[in-house]
Amino acid sequence: MNEWKSFDEIVTAKGMWLIDSKGNKILDAVGSMWCNVWGHSKPELIKAIVNQSKKLQHSSMFNLTHESAEKLAEKLVRFSPGMHKVFYSDNGSSAMEIALKLALQYWQNTGEKQKSKIITLENGYHGDTFGAMSVGYVPQFFGNFKKQLFPTLQIPTPNKYRIPKGYTYSDYQIYCLDKIETQLSKDNKIAAFVMESGAQVAGGVLIYPKNFQKKIKKLCKKYNVLLILDEIATGFGRLGSMLQYTEQKSIPDIVAYGKMLTGGYLTLAATLSSKKVYDSFIGEFNDRKHLFHGHTYTGNPIACAVSLENLNLYQKDNLIKKIQKKSKVFEKYYEEIAKLESVGDIRHKGMLMGIELVSNKKKKTPIRSKKSINKIFFEEGKNHGIYLRTLGNIVMLVPPLAISEKDLDFLLKRTIKTIKSAQKQVF
Ligand SMILES: Cc1ncc(COP(=O)(O)O)c(C=O)c1O
Repeated sequence: MNEWKSFDEIVTAKGMWLIDSKGNKILDAVGSMWCNVWGHSKPELIKAIVNQSKKLQHSSMFNLTHESAEKLAEKLVRFSPGMHKVFYSDNGSSAMEIALKLALQYWQNTGEKQKSKIITLENGYHGDTFGAMSVGYVPQFFGNFKKQLFPTLQIPTPNKYRIPKGYTYSDYQIYCLDKIETQLSKDNKIAAFVMESGAQVAGGVLIYPKNFQKKIKKLCKKYNVLLILDEIATGFGRLGSMLQYTEQKSIPDIVAYGKMLTGGYLTLAATLSSKKVYDSFIGEFNDRKHLFHGHTYTGNPIACAVSLENLNLYQKDNLIKKIQKKSKVFEKYYEEIAKLESVGDIRHKGMLMGIELVSNKKKKTPIRSKKSINKIFFEEGKNHGIYLRTLGNIVMLVPPLAISEKDLDFLLKRTIKTIKSAQKQVF
């Protein structure tokens, strides 16, 4: 909290640039916490917000519905193979709570009441509310609440850079998948498998090996366990495809969207489910099959309207194709980054890069400092014209998806300069 006092106030932003109260311009390498798509002050998105604000600002979705929520739900279902209906909320953590409740209640509704356990991957992150903390337990963040969290079964995630002694990368993948199969086969109380789709982002940009997610999906199917995928940080183009689950050939039973859903302008999230899951909630009131869950701002009309316009722009601009091309800009800098004294590993996919910092390259010792690494990088980044955040010992590059190649070059060059000057402070 003492550090926080010295951070700046941002007063406005345009395109990729944030402007602080002293008039300094910094490039937004955090994408406003991984959600910004088009940069700031995008006229089409502002127009959608203004127009909808004049018509209907908010109306409850209890008993009622409205045009922008309906249109958006249709659109989401259309591009989400295997999904049938949408349940709105207003942030990613809530979307994951809803996913968990849907999965747990599905088994209650269908008579398999013993199915109540959740299985997850170590290092996963699904938000900061209690259910989300339980299924995405990160000791450094959530240690203070450990006693209040519900237990989950955790399976290790293969991390190519930190494979345990005695294993090759491929052996270790087999080991992880075998562990999953052992758990699923011996325990008929498992309700759902929960994982981020494509990669673990907050867990340190751990991109899953090829076919890993697909194999988990197969195991879930084989042992009659629901698969919940979290596309909140990885979907909508961040990893270079609209949805990671289609790229990974792993259609889930339930999926959560958030962050980039509104282009990063307003707060909206969605939990989608398959017809099988949805149908189990159909019944008369006294059957008590429906989900008792709803937030005040569920399906807010302005948020839905800006989301619709955001998704129209994805199509008009051919954004996903452009991301795939621009992603190569990161590759040009791999060698130069890898040579830096403090860099142990580089992990990159689409418009996401994680640079793991170590104090000893051979021993792979995570870098440590008396002052927080985040504070050092924030200050040095700002001196070099970029807004950077680190997560533990990982420098995260998560720019707005529509960043130009020129700005991306700027970002990578300045990141290298920032690491050079920051590492001097740490070593
Ligand atoms: C994969 C993932 N799931 C869920 C969340 C939680 O979303 P929110 O911060 O909107 O609650 C995040 C946030 O970073 C995330 O990365």
